[in-house]
Amino acid sequence: MKRLAGKSALVTGAARGIGFGFAERYLAEGATVAIADINLSAAKEAAAALGAGAYAVQLDVSDQASIDAAIAAVVAQAGKLDILINNAALFDAAETVEITRASYDKLYAVNVAGTLFTMQAAARQMIAQGHGGKIINMASQAGRRGESLVLVYCSTKAAVISMTQSADLNLIKHGINVNAIAPGVVDGAHWEHVDSMFAKLEGKAPGQKKAEVAAGVPAGRFANPADLTGMAVFLASSESDYIVSQTYNVDGGQWMS
Ligand SMILES: NC(=O)c1ccc[n+]([C@@H]2O[C@H](COP(=O)([O-])OP(=O)(O)OC[C@H]3O[C@@H](n4cnc5c(N)ncnc54)[C@H](O)[C@@H]3O)[C@@H](O)[C@H]2O)c1
Repeated sequence: MKRLAGKSALVTGAARGIGFGFAERYLAEGATVAIADINLSAAKEAAAALGAGAYAVQLDVSDQASIDAAIAAVVAQAGKLDILINNAALFDAAETVEITRASYDKLYAVNVAGTLFTMQAAARQMIAQGHGGKIINMASQAGRRGESLVLVYCSTKAAVISMTQSADLNLIKHGINVNAIAPGVVDGAHWEHVDSMFAKLEGKAPGQKKAEVAAGVPAGRFANPADLTGMAVFLASSESDYIVSQTYNVDGGQWMS
């Protein structure tokens, strides 16, 4: 039995990386999936590669009109919205004395306001439908503890953990579960970008930071997106109906909480 048969899911930032991995697994579990991304051409390519049940939706989570239009597009396409994964996010790194207002504003607009207002729009739709729903926010181990060069990103992910708690304490009365996943380090374009930023900031050779970080993971390696999909299916299925406001570490043993 497919665990998400007949469900309609929206995954933000699904054109690549972890979001693409979630979409692939949700399709295999019987859901239809909106591949929602700021990069529409990449979202279209991803949807075509994923095949039946996947469709591309234009979405900039930092823009309210775009959020509303994306929810409307999902309802037009699938007739309803059952599952949201708030996955889109941006990363930046800098010495504390070099952090710019522009970087702060951009990361907060996408990682914090984007998560909040996409969650709100999805919850409004789910409440109108009247049979609950599942919202999964993407936190990070970066939200569990600050990092020397990563003040802004870490604080946005701490905000995601906190928003997940408050949102579900408020929404569970509608049968909506809001929980979060806190990955450790996951292979892909995001970490190539992180590695190149650390190469500049710490004077390391390309790939050096990544190798050092991998050596420190108790599981001995970076995650692949597929390492996260089991938790994403569980949190989207009826098996998690009694799980409220939680953030789960899926990080190879990095963090205990
Ligand atoms: N990769 C890791 O090591 C890691 C670790 C912990 C948490 N995370 C979190 O997991 C999530 C996915 O990470 P990833 O590694 O796949 O990232 P990624 O950078 O590879 O993919 C992010 C996707 O989001 C899209 N996007 C960016 N801004 C957007 C916007 N304003 N509106 C809609 N889409 C937008 C991008 O086009 C891209 O397709 C993020 O929330 C990230 O913070 C990643």
